[in-house]
Amino acid sequence: SVVGLPLPHESAVQHVTGTALYTDDLVHRTKDVLHAYPVQVMKAHGLITALRTGPALAVPGVVRVLTGADVPGVNDAGMKHDEPLFPDEVMFHGHAVAWVLGETLEAARLGAAAVEVELDERPSLITLPEAIAAGSFHGARPVMVTGDVDAGFADSAHVFTGELHFSDQEHFYLETHAALAYVDEAEQVFVQSSTQHPSETQEIVAHVLGLHSHEVTVQCLRMGGGFGGKEMQPHGFAAVAALGARLTGRPVRVRLNRTQDLTMSGKRHGFHARWRIGFDADGRIQALDATLTADGGWSLDLSEPVVARALCHIDNTYWIPNARITGRIARTNKVSNTAFRGFGGPQGMLVIEDIMGRCAPLLGLDPAELRERNFYGRGQSTPYGQPVVQPERITAVWEQVKENGGIADRRREIAAFNAAHPHTKRALALTALKFGISFNLTAFNQGGALVLIYKDGSVLINHGGTEMGQGLHTKMLQVAATTLGIPLHKVRLAPTRTDKVPNTSATAASAGTDLNGAAVKNACEQLRERLLQVAATRLGTNASDVRIAEGVARGLGSDEELAWDELVRTAYLQRVQLSAAGFYRTEGLHWDAKAFHGSPFKYFAHGAAAAEVEVDGFTGAYRVRRVDIVHDVGDSLSPMIDIGQVEGGFVQGAGWLTLEDLRWDAGDGPHRGRLLTQAASTYKLPSFSEMPEEFHVTLLENAAEEGAVYGSKAVGEPPLMLAFSVREALRQAAAAFGPGGIGVELASPATPEAVYWAIESARDRV
Ligand code: MTE
Ligand code: MOS
Repeated sequence: SVVGLPLPHESAVQHVTGTALYTDDLVHRTKDVLHAYPVQVMKAHGLITALRTGPALAVPGVVRVLTGADVPGVNDAGMKHDEPLFPDEVMFHGHAVAWVLGETLEAARLGAAAVEVELDERPSLITLPEAIAAGSFHGARPVMVTGDVDAGFADSAHVFTGELHFSDQEHFYLETHAALAYVDEAEQVFVQSSTQHPSETQEIVAHVLGLHSHEVTVQCLRMGGGFGGKEMQPHGFAAVAALGARLTGRPVRVRLNRTQDLTMSGKRHGFHARWRIGFDADGRIQALDATLTADGGWSLDLSEPVVARALCHIDNTYWIPNARITGRIARTNKVSNTAFRGFGGPQGMLVIEDIMGRCAPLLGLDPAELRERNFYGRGQSTPYGQPVVQPERITAVWEQVKENGGIADRRREIAAFNAAHPHTKRALALTALKFGISFNLTAFNQGGALVLIYKDGSVLINHGGTEMGQGLHTKMLQVAATTLGIPLHKVRLAPTRTDKVPNTSATAASAGTDLNGAAVKNACEQLRERLLQVAATRLGTNASDVRIAEGVARGLGSDEELAWDELVRTAYLQRVQLSAAGFYRTEGLHWDAKAFHGSPFKYFAHGAAAAEVEVDGFTGAYRVRRVDIVHDVGDSLSPMIDIGQVEGGFVQGAGWLTLEDLRWDAGDGPHRGRLLTQAASTYKLPSFSEMPEEFHVTLLENAAEEGAVYGSKAVGEPPLMLAFSVREALRQAAAAFGPGGIGVELASPATPEAVYWAIESARDRV
């Protein structure tokens, strides 16, 4: 079958030849487009006392300035209704308060520069510690409790406390935020948007314009990366384009340049964690008490579900019998932080992996040994009450990565190397992962599709998911071809549109294939049933005895064949409906957000990684010498796509943990609140030179997942969290500069500078 074949991405050729179309490419095919440019206020906080657009209108080529007064509907771009599209109050450095439309981008830019804004400046909170000290919080404050925490600490032989403040992360998708809107003859609005969530973009555009959803169509052709950054943040940009189009009658284009995107759009939440953990004499966790505070930025956006997912992943692969974990969202005068691959899961897991890395030496245990001793066993449940039904998957990937990586031999080699090299140290660390698949909010776990078969036998599929490079469309083609029993080339995929499949969920939570794949399969199954009836009559047999494979229908025990195209034509002539809407909802989920309890996840994805690093004692510079990964994607639908996702996710995680360092001006000067790292020149992303020198990714075999589409598991986000192995290896290598058996604290990101300070702290112990 076509499912399971290692196919290249369906757009691979277009990607590499530059012929793939993205939102902004459509501008060149559209006549009379106006260009929108934001009026950004470069202060962290203040009330607008005057906004003068007259000078902008005097600039040649400026057509109109959009302000709050122009909004016919609701002046808000957020699902929480706390994000005025045209604000009266500047909430962060770079906040856009108006948009200028021009005949050219340059005219719009000059117009934006001419708009005069007067501000009554207000005090601002920039850093997370500042916000915590000021008691500036917003949104829910969930508490997750299991067992009896006080009793757990009373029973503990060792109790440790600590803190960790770790960084945010920029998505740095190649394609910045973009939207192109126009109004068609019926006053209806069409928006092409780079969005992971077309239905929600549609909803916000409709609210802003004061229209109904059926008057607004949102399309997403593909994205040049989203990584969560386009789950909620595209809505406002789409609304600006749509408003401009509605007011001028001309197509309007919004495309942020890189600096605008960096200074206006939200990032991965940085967190502060304060914790207390108790272990028994053998190093088994008895109790964990922790408070996790996320830097939410100025508005709520997705901060509440992000914090919920952080809490739901603080256990990672470890059984914590007694726990009390509190989550909070700090409100700061920064961009509104948002979804980013893992959606809070990585932040929760970083806390426990940091704890394990710090506590192992204090317990006199090898870190891998400490991790292993705490892995979930049969019959145990997560702190939010979901049974971990396949704990043996954790040990399966863990043992296989040890074997693939030749860990025992390499540990000996590393010990010998370190003994011989006083100024260079190597270390190897293993970490595992457990990641819950499904949206916490049960309602989001639904998918839809619309499959059309044309008279010539060709098939067009529409589904509710969006393509951001992750290969969702490739998998959907495979699912459709397999379910219908036809070759891949007979199937084509249409751009995602809200007028084809309504009320879709975001393509997020790694659930795109689970939800939309099952919906596509459902639609194809309906069509197959109808076609089997038609074939049975032609072949003189029963429908239950007909099989369609590789584009040919055959009856059991009959020599007669019926080619697909002929079958479809026959069905048409018999007036059999050749289109079907598919639907899927994940069964068996329940989640009580108030009690913070339930079984929100359909299943868990697992993986394990072993990373070896080499650290230079003079500078803290390091290299990743080798990484081995074993990852569980169930029975892979598309192994090449999945391996790409594992590699890409891992490298993106390693970027967050070791290189990428967002800096904000927190001083009292005139630029307070400014993002200092506004370009790739100052924000270091992983590139080829940071790839592990040796990189082995293996997919766990014979791993079929019961009840998931063709036995496959989600892959998009989990591998990011395998990068903890790199951070822990760096910690161990830094510690190796000190006396044996000591532990060190390591900042996150573990930049060479941070590693250098860890080395210094190890040396101080001599
Ligand atoms: N892979 C690529 N190439 N580009 C992306 O933007 N986003 C990630 C992941 N992999 C992303 C990616 C995120 S955050 C998610 S939630 C999933 O893909 C979403 O797609 P899926 O549900 O189809 O896996
Ligand atoms: Mo992914 S962070 O769920 O878009």
